[in-house]
Amino acid sequence: MPLERKAAGILQLPYTSMSKDEAIRWARLGLGSFLHVLGDEARELQKEAMEHAGVPIIFGIDAIHGHALNMDATVYPSQLSMASSFDPDMLERVGRATAEEVSADGLHWTFSPVFCLARDIRLGRVDETFGEDKYLSGELGAAMIRGYQGDDLSSDLSILACAKHFIGIGEAAGARDSYDAEITERRMRAELLPPFERAVEAGCRSFMTAYGSIDGEPCTSNAHLLRDILKDELGFDGFAVTDWDNVNYLVKMQYTAGDVKEASLLAIEGGNDMIMTTEEFYSSAIELVREGRLPERLIDEALYRILSAKYDLGLFEKPYKQAPSDRIGAPEHIELNRSVADECVVLLKNDSILPLKGKQKIAIIGNTADDIRCHYGDWTYFTHPSPNPDAAPRRPYVTLLEGLRDRAPSHGHTVSYERGYELYSDKAYIDKAVSAAKCADVIIFACGDLIDRIGETHDCATMELLPSQSAVFSALSELGKPIVTVLIASKPMCIPDIVKGSRAVLTAFNGGMFGGDSLAKAIYGELNPEGKLPISFPYHTGQQPTYYNTLPGWHADRYKDVPREPLFVFGDGLSYTEFSYTGAAFDEKTLTLSVNIKNTGDMAGTEITQVYFRDLVSSVITPVKQLIAFKRTKLQPGEEERIEFKLSERDLSLVNRECRRVTERGEFEIMVGGSSRDTSLTRIRFTL
Ligand code: BGC
Repeated sequence: MPLERKAAGILQLPYTSMSKDEAIRWARLGLGSFLHVLGDEARELQKEAMEHAGVPIIFGIDAIHGHALNMDATVYPSQLSMASSFDPDMLERVGRATAEEVSADGLHWTFSPVFCLARDIRLGRVDETFGEDKYLSGELGAAMIRGYQGDDLSSDLSILACAKHFIGIGEAAGARDSYDAEITERRMRAELLPPFERAVEAGCRSFMTAYGSIDGEPCTSNAHLLRDILKDELGFDGFAVTDWDNVNYLVKMQYTAGDVKEASLLAIEGGNDMIMTTEEFYSSAIELVREGRLPERLIDEALYRILSAKYDLGLFEKPYKQAPSDRIGAPEHIELNRSVADECVVLLKNDSILPLKGKQKIAIIGNTADDIRCHYGDWTYFTHPSPNPDAAPRRPYVTLLEGLRDRAPSHGHTVSYERGYELYSDKAYIDKAVSAAKCADVIIFACGDLIDRIGETHDCATMELLPSQSAVFSALSELGKPIVTVLIASKPMCIPDIVKGSRAVLTAFNGGMFGGDSLAKAIYGELNPEGKLPISFPYHTGQQPTYYNTLPGWHADRYKDVPREPLFVFGDGLSYTEFSYTGAAFDEKTLTLSVNIKNTGDMAGTEITQVYFRDLVSSVITPVKQLIAFKRTKLQPGEEERIEFKLSERDLSLVNRECRRVTERGEFEIMVGGSSRDTSLTRIRFTL
């Protein structure tokens, strides 16, 4: 193959930033990949590629929570929202259904899932993660990969997954998107690598590098990360793609290369196999090889990895492979999406008000209740990467307001609605909200972050509600009527006063097409909430980062001015029934934990049981608790079941000073219960 074709073959370009003629020219040159093409246009480009270069193009897209850049596709809850389900089987089904929709557009690859952990919630991209825990992220992400890729990659219904962003975007100092992170090798291996290891084990065929840097070294050019760890040590046999124009960013934003040519050299030496959107890479790579500065072997190796993926996808035999077009927004996917949204509802507080009973007049206050963009969140046709905020969304979808209005009459309820706020405080809105609320028995207050505050490069300094939302809440509180707060937000927010002033609080984060409907069902008791938080809610923005698996050793143990435990902690989530845990036992020989769980209330419900461990004395400081297993159990009222968790020595391991994963002998504590909150856990000590 001529060098020119090889260089083109490891380049990916954005269809959205060029003319059609240019795209055809690149297809004929043998371009490796286009991103963000939809439907017939992909087919046309493939035809050009096959006729002129004889190598199929792989088409990639950001199908992050469903194929949501296509207006007809199914929009699932955000990744963070879906993490509240603690349900890998469901995530696998979502991956599978999304793969069908992506493939129906003639595309082969999604840049999902995200395996980075959320730490400091000021980061705009928290919604893209599975939350703060490495074990949960690994389990859910691996399931999603299985769904996307299926058992047979060459099937018309399978696409490639992409584990991203390698590595540590959640760790950037001050939660500044793509900024430098101070992570030591040991901590990286102990905390950040494990979910990515699960991605490799699950057979993920592509990885995307992170924009950020670790201790001054950009991840994009970090050969230790990409070559030593990912490829050699973990045995990753797929291909690594840079993030968007990352090669240029080495020049223009990180200043570790003087020009694109030098940056191209660094990126390939660093271990990237595909270069995303840096067009100048093409001529740079050719010149570098001709000048003898870049061994052609490195280009060959990168190309080999990409061609292998194309081969396994079956593209050489079926370059136009495509799922049937009726897969986009298929009725089964819509049904699946309804049940997904149901599992994502998290009830955070309930002071005997929900489910709503009796004859009531309800005032629904809050703009987000009827703004489908807020239910959808980031990475849809409304937002990133080609924002169209005024797009008219396609049905079916149900906002919270619609979900409540649909149900109210059958409960003998009347409903009124006021927007309550816009981006900025407006007295007229507040006055209208207050007069509606005055005539009501119950107020349902919808709040959260607005769409222009979330996602990539949309980091925030404060995590309180918008002043306009807080102002209307204060005015409503003065009426002394019961308030049910529904948080429709991309991530946790610092809302202690709102929680205190509300009789009930619930969220589904960005719950997708049916998030609003599921929240309404929960309010009316048509579903019993079962979601648990995959991420903690701090009291105050200044408490960042807040996560459950902290290290011991903080002399103060808490900030003087806020309580010790987070407002809501990882694993929290209430139900309309109660579950009791009894008879916990641990068999030290087989490392098997068993416990009885009983539904002691009068409504059927699903409990998510969580198992944590602590190494009581260890050579390096280890977390006060760490999740190592979880299980969902559905129980009828009065029903009891004994559930078992088979653990392994590796589950109890740490990464030692020599950066090796080991299990140190000694005393351990196993904890089991319905939340990571200390008061929810039964503890058993044992010696290994
Ligand atoms: C994001 C990636 C995304 C890529 C392609 C980047 O800006 O960081 O997550 O996959 O764009 O759209």
